[in-house]
Amino acid sequence: MNLRQLLNDMTLDEKKDQLIQLATLFYAGAETQGEITGPMEDMGITEEMIQNSGSVLGASGAKEVTNIQKVHLENNRLGIPLLMMADIVHGFKTIFPVPLAIGCSWDEKLAERSAEIAAKEAAVSGVHVTFAPMVDLVRDPRWGRVMETTGEDPYLNSVFAKAFVRGFQGNDLTNDKNKVAACVKHFAAYGAPEGGRDYNTVNMSERELRENYLPAYKAALDEGCEMVMTAFNTVDGVPATGNKKLMRDLLREEWGFDGVMISDWGAVKELIPHGVAGDESEAARKAINAGVDIEMMTACYVKNLKELVDSGAVKEELIDEAVLRILELKQKLGLFENPYRGADEQLEKEVIMSTEHREAAYELAAKSCVLLKNEEILPLQKDKKIALIGPFANNGDILGQWSWQGSKEDAVKIYDGIAQKAGADNVFMAQGSDIESATEDQFSEAVKVANDADVIVLALGEKSEMSGEAGSRSNICLPDVQLKLIEEMKKLNKPIVSVLINGRPLDLHGVYEESDGLLEAWFPGTEGGRAIADLLYGDVNPSGRLTMSFPYNVGQVPVYYNHYNTGRPKDAPDAQERYVSQYLDVPNEPLFPFGFGLSYTKYQYNDLTLSKDYLAADDEIKVSVKVKNVGSIKGEEVVQLYVRDLVGEVVRPLKELKAYQKIELNPGEEQEIFFTLTEEQLRYYHEDLSFESDAGKFNVFVGPNSQECLEQSFELRK
Ligand code: GLC
Repeated sequence: MNLRQLLNDMTLDEKKDQLIQLATLFYAGAETQGEITGPMEDMGITEEMIQNSGSVLGASGAKEVTNIQKVHLENNRLGIPLLMMADIVHGFKTIFPVPLAIGCSWDEKLAERSAEIAAKEAAVSGVHVTFAPMVDLVRDPRWGRVMETTGEDPYLNSVFAKAFVRGFQGNDLTNDKNKVAACVKHFAAYGAPEGGRDYNTVNMSERELRENYLPAYKAALDEGCEMVMTAFNTVDGVPATGNKKLMRDLLREEWGFDGVMISDWGAVKELIPHGVAGDESEAARKAINAGVDIEMMTACYVKNLKELVDSGAVKEELIDEAVLRILELKQKLGLFENPYRGADEQLEKEVIMSTEHREAAYELAAKSCVLLKNEEILPLQKDKKIALIGPFANNGDILGQWSWQGSKEDAVKIYDGIAQKAGADNVFMAQGSDIESATEDQFSEAVKVANDADVIVLALGEKSEMSGEAGSRSNICLPDVQLKLIEEMKKLNKPIVSVLINGRPLDLHGVYEESDGLLEAWFPGTEGGRAIADLLYGDVNPSGRLTMSFPYNVGQVPVYYNHYNTGRPKDAPDAQERYVSQYLDVPNEPLFPFGFGLSYTKYQYNDLTLSKDYLAADDEIKVSVKVKNVGSIKGEEVVQLYVRDLVGEVVRPLKELKAYQKIELNPGEEQEIFFTLTEEQLRYYHEDLSFESDAGKFNVFVGPNSQECLEQSFELRK
């Protein structure tokens, strides 16, 4: 298909209409034919605009997608097929753990596999593009969408961003019909809203933005990610969706990205409430000038671009560029040859929720859970009588947000998993409370059931809509009724194991001290109950490690491992008693730090060795360490390597993750692990935004988490 020719054949109306993305309910042939009422009706969408439109949001199901595309092609003058896009973030119908959990697996191969499977299930259902990976760096658990990202570290987020893009897109998007195009989001720094309140203002220096918040987007694009979605928030006072400096100058000019940019839902029109556009025409002008190609679910473009071109306020070539990028993506996906791409009702039946896919979801869930406490109560013995109590004891709401195609009914619940392990005769269940409410009867029933048991397993947490988009919480404790339930259980003087189902690091007051065992299961997905049971009974040895800090309380937020030292560090050798950077009521460190996670065995780190004590710019240092499993069962350990630049032109973090290896060790086995350090890994953004390293002293840390490390040092010579 000669796209230039096709572009030339298009009228200005057809071109500007190609830039809108509408939900399925606007399209004949969609199963969910909704009434075009309310805000949809106010959009002023005409039938002609729909016939000329370029892409659909939320289409899924081979039959529905085929119908929509078929009707569209009958009505579109030039036969330009629709792009079918949808949110497939951590699974399509087979739901994987939420990305914050996937990050805690520190297993990018399993992450890639999860995206591969999600892509396959989506592709046979007719989806062409997924709105993932979401790679926004986060430091504030009040923000609900922390569940959707892999955490607080730019290096780890970059590793996973690449893995997700590889899984979704593969390396032959045109011919591999089991793949979908990926769309990295939300550009940029959406994860840093003030107060942790969704959609709120983001204020940070360009240096901070480049140092911590941009790397993972760049990593996704370096891996070939086809699309970028703009963020709702402002960046330095300008909404991302109208931010020319961020999109045209940085993303397109500096980074050389020439793929499609899509706004987030309604974000073009939101330039008006943001206060940088007086009306939809101005919003359209700002967004197209800033580089947004597709306007999602508002109609500023389709209603105003023609007049803006006619008046000379917008150059037509900007519209041509946008249209061409969209046509190029359609061509790359082979849609001009086959507008139905991978949609296949027969294959849907064979591929979706297959045993193989469920096994992959189980494996990732088992590796994403993090053991936070174990006072010799875990693993459970199968002959013990278990009282399984709590709102998540038998609750399918373990898929987390962005699992809209998943089925809670199909999820393996915690009760299913434990009963399968210990035998139904050994498990006595009582709900004990709902998520945010409880009756006296529920409590008394829980006490009755618990009285007959050897061990109490509490299944507690947040319902899925308490995190995710628009799921910000100012209080990140468990709901009061669940804390009360724990109190009631504690009075029985029996061992308590708490399992948490949640989408964010929580304030664990009322949980941590009261539990003898504590397993963070996040939203573990379709196979969650089976994975949790295998972990509780020791058939799987926990290997998850936190990728986002757990604060003592919300007052500590933001608390993260790669922070700066300040001029009055509390732990300095000569620190004063009072006049140092500290709280009067809690420590400075989080309750659980980045990289933390327990195992049923123990690991010993010895002999951290550097191949030399200096590094020349074009050379490398070999770092080695010995790690031994000194316990009695096999386990997986995440060996983490951090560095510290002792003196920089700007302040430098106390630690920065630069590498890690997840290794398996049999009881008694010792392995020598090797890393390589180069000058490139020591570069950072200077005051003038130059990205380079400085000669000088560095510390190297290697250990099981960001707090307990062996230490060595070297000098960079330039
Ligand atoms: C939402 C989300 C975005 C999602 C889009 C389409 O508002 O912010 O992540 O991809 O709309 O559903």
